[in-house]
Parts: sequence; C-alpha cells; structure tokens
Amino acid sequence: MTQPTAANPSDPARLVLGIETSCDETAAAVVRDGREVRSNVIASQNELHAEFRGVVPEIASRAHCERIAPIVRRALDEAGVGADALDAVAVGNRPGLIGSLLVGVAAAKALAWRLGKPLIAVDHVHAHLYSGLMHHAGQPARDEPAWPAIGLAVSGGHTSIYRLDDPSRVHRLGGTIDDAIGEAYDKVAAILGLPFPGGPHVDRLAATGRPDAVPLPVSRLDRDGLDFSFSGLKTAVLYAVQGVPGPRAPKAVRPPDADVCASFQRAAVAAVILKLRRALDRQPECRTLLVGGGVTANSRLRAELTSLASSHGLDLRLPPMDLCLDNGAMIAGLGDRLLRQRAPDDLSIAATPTTAV
Ligand code: KG4
Ligand code: ZN
Repeated sequence: MTQPTAANPSDPARLVLGIETSCDETAAAVVRDGREVRSNVIASQNELHAEFRGVVPEIASRAHCERIAPIVRRALDEAGVGADALDAVAVGNRPGLIGSLLVGVAAAKALAWRLGKPLIAVDHVHAHLYSGLMHHAGQPARDEPAWPAIGLAVSGGHTSIYRLDDPSRVHRLGGTIDDAIGEAYDKVAAILGLPFPGGPHVDRLAATGRPDAVPLPVSRLDRDGLDFSFSGLKTAVLYAVQGVPGPRAPKAVRPPDADVCASFQRAAVAAVILKLRRALDRQPECRTLLVGGGVTANSRLRAELTSLASSHGLDLRLPPMDLCLDNGAMIAGLGDRLLRQRAPDDLSIAATPTTAV
C-alpha cells in the first residue's frame, strides 16, 4: 500500500477518529483539531466482568470484536460526519491486554487502509495525560498551556509522574513499584464486598465516613523519591477490616465501611499529593499540571489537586468527567497532535502490552 501522508499541518480543521480497546471499554470518538470532542462513544463491559471481580481477558477481547464496528459507526453518526470526511485514524496500541488491543489495532488498520487515510499509533497512558487539554463541542475552548508541565497519570494500571516539555515529549520521573492506585481502590472495594470496579463505590461511601477514623499509613518510600507504593496500604485495610492474622492477635472490631473508605481515600490521595509536591519542588519551571486516568474522577483527589494548584499558582488541567475513564477522544486528540509533528505510522504497527512513557 502507498502510505498516505499526514494532512497539511497548518490546516486548522482536521477530524481524527480515535479508537480505544486497551482493556474493557470499547470506545471511539471524533475530535476536531486535536482539542474539540465532536463525539465520544464508550461501551463499558463492567457487567460482563463483575462476577469475576476483575477483567477476564478472553471475555474482554470477544466483547470488543462484537462491539467495535457499531461503536465506530455511532461515533461517526454522533459527530455528524461520514468516514470519508476523516483526516486520520488514531488507535491506542499500548499498553493493555494484548487480545483487547489487537481488536482496536486491526479495526484501525482496516479503516485507514480502506479510506486511504493516515494511521497513527498512540500510547494510552500518554493519551490520559493529554485528556485535560480537550473540551466538548459547544464548551469554551481551552488555551494551550505553558510548557514544561508536570503530568500525573492515575489509573487502574498506572500511577506515574512525568515532566512534559510539550505534548509529545514525556519523561517519566517516578511511578508505582507495586499496585496502581486504581487497583488499590478496586482491591479495597473487594475486601468490603463492594461491586467491581470499586473506585466509584469507595469514593461514594467515603463521602459519609470519617477520614481519621481508621489509622492507615501514608506511603512515603524514601525521603526524596518520586515512586509510589500502594500494597502496604491495601494490606493495612485488610487487617483493619478482617483483623491481623495469628493466634495471639486481638480480635478485630470491624469499623463501618464508610469510615474504612474515607480513611483509605485520605491516605491514598495524601500519598499522591506528597509526591506531586516533591516533583513540583524539583521542577519549579513547571507551571502547568496535567492529570489523567480513571482515578482523576475521584472527588477527594480532584478537590486536593484544585487546592494544590491554587496554593502553588499552577494551571491545573483536569479532564471533564467523561474523559477521565478510558475513551477514544484522548486517543484522537493526542493522535492529531503527534501527526502534526511526525509522519504517520504504517500497517506494521503492533499491539504492545507495555507503555512507552
Ligand atoms: O483509566 P481507567 O479507565 O483504566 C485504566 O487505564 O486502568 O481507570 C480505571 C480505574 C479503576 O481502577 C477504577 O476503580 C478507578 O479508575 N476509578 C476510580 C473512580 N472512578 C474510577 N477510583 C477512585 N475514585 C473514582 N471516582
Ligand atoms: Zn486508562
């Protein structure tokens, strides 16, 4: 196949289709100019995985196969554009479950080839960092922020801090050495018998609990590192709820679930804010804070990030709620930005389980 070239980079009105199937959401979106979300269609598979309390890879990839074509069609319909009007096709090709990624990558290649349009592969974690720069059609456009920026990715699979010199140049400063923060939320929910995925349920219950009711550790790891650890906090919650194992351990009195949730949430969010403060102290030239990933939907994290930004005079870019969780819009948005800087990919792009950032 002759490789199409990117659309003229100076053409301001470009429509990019974004496809996202890295885990258990089948998603597609149309984005104009890398920023304006024209449509954002997300089919969640929560109901298929709930009884297993986690994503079952084989079930996820089968569901993606069934849903991908109708979801792409709906994204085009809701944006009011035909496939021929697209300027490019972007796809999340890493990181994620390999069987899930393959469905989106195959669909994107087929579409790009059939339409003769440029194809661009996008890293999912990188796209989460970009999501705060986007807005919905009809809402006020967001200006380009000042660079460099500090980036925070908080999701079910990743918890990392970055320095971004511009939207495409990302340097990892630190990350979790064990569980991701979203994974810790999901495991705490499982300990309490709450449905999967647990993050939103823990967040909701925490609103009526006391954050200081259950003493739980805030992970620091070392005096000046930027890595995270959430496995100790998760075990502390397990012991607070079920008691410390061993014949001589005192019998535990189980605290109210709302108090457990509020106390866990206080400790988890405090660990994130602590490392962000350290990162900002080390990178004083960064006046912009980009955050993204499913846990960005968390009420306490949003509130604490907002007050951190106001006390440090930072330009905080919180994504709209529907762009916090996995979505195709962030893939299309970052794909457009990357296409303005580099040549499109060809049909040899591969699905890859690990992140590149
Ligand atoms: O970004 P995402 O949709 O998928 C990954 O890339 O992993 O993030 C999903 C994670 C899940 O662990 C889910 O429990 C968590 O985000 N999450 C939340 C909230 N909403 C979703 N965690 C805490 N509070 C929330 N409100
Ligand atoms: Zn994600």
